[in-house]
Amino acid sequence: MTERTEADTVAVTVKDGIAWVRFNRPEKRNCMSPKLNRQMLRVLTDLEFRDDVGVVVLSGEGTAWSAGMDLKEYFRDTEALGLPGIRQSQREAYAWWERLRWFQKVTIAMVNGWCFGGGYGPLYSCDLAFCADEAEFGLSEINWGILPGGGATKVAVELMPMRKAMYHALMGENLTGKQAEAAGLVNESHPVAALEARVNEVAQKLLKKNLDTLKATKDAVRRVREMTYDNAEDYLIRAQEALNFHDKSDGRHIGMKQFLDEKSYKPGLGEYDKKKS
Ligand code: COA
Repeated sequence: MTERTEADTVAVTVKDGIAWVRFNRPEKRNCMSPKLNRQMLRVLTDLEFRDDVGVVVLSGEGTAWSAGMDLKEYFRDTEALGLPGIRQSQREAYAWWERLRWFQKVTIAMVNGWCFGGGYGPLYSCDLAFCADEAEFGLSEINWGILPGGGATKVAVELMPMRKAMYHALMGENLTGKQAEAAGLVNESHPVAALEARVNEVAQKLLKKNLDTLKATKDAVRRVREMTYDNAEDYLIRAQEALNFHDKSDGRHIGMKQFLDEKSYKPGLGEYDKKKS
């Protein structure tokens, strides 16, 4: 086929509050080229504050989620441009992974197939991750003579116990979906035929909750990991006070009213009805 345009490297559909964003280079197993990285940042920027988008799902067209960085376009071609080219392409990749880590909406990785190397960057950036039993996860860098860069080493150590991360990085052997679930790389693994339905179910549950509270909570979970207990306690007080300001729906007072006065729901068993004030 003729080479894809930059705009065509990412596919997007918005339906029922969910933005389905797909790596769209199936013929190249969705490996990440500079074009794809630039387009992803554009797509995420367009989606971030849309009122009709409450959850973003990141998936891949074809048999791959993402085969990692594009060895030709991301590594070989940019190395030929020297240090400015290398730094430029790194920044373009890291920029959208960072945007995803702190995205305004909850993000879900739906790993439908291959997930290698640089793919661990966006995998970690997504708040939740669900994969197909048939997917394969690998730090393949060791197999072609580089270390797992682009954050991949950090991702392995953040998500897995030390011994498992070390084996994974040194051996270059792949994990199946179920093994990735057991290792902590994803929340759940399901047969590929059931994957989208499960992700849709999770996304629909999230959409019923207060979206400002979800944003404050996901940031809190990421931030407190690197804090002392005292710093975390203080951060969480301030994050809640900031949430009180940003949540123009005044959700927590509605939640209290529906539980304490109206007795229409129990917070221990589900969320308050945000359609009723
Ligand atoms: N970079 C550049 N090109 C890649 C690529 C990558 N990371 N992954 C796949 N491709 C290309 C192949 O070169 C091939 O291109 P061609 O049709 O022009 O020859 C095409 O995508 C299809 O790949 P192919 O290897 O034939 O598909 P497969 O389904 O048999 O195998 C993989 C899939 C993912 C196992 C295999 O492509 C692979 O090992 N990719 C590299 C994975 C990797 O190490 N990524 C880490 C990068 S940090």
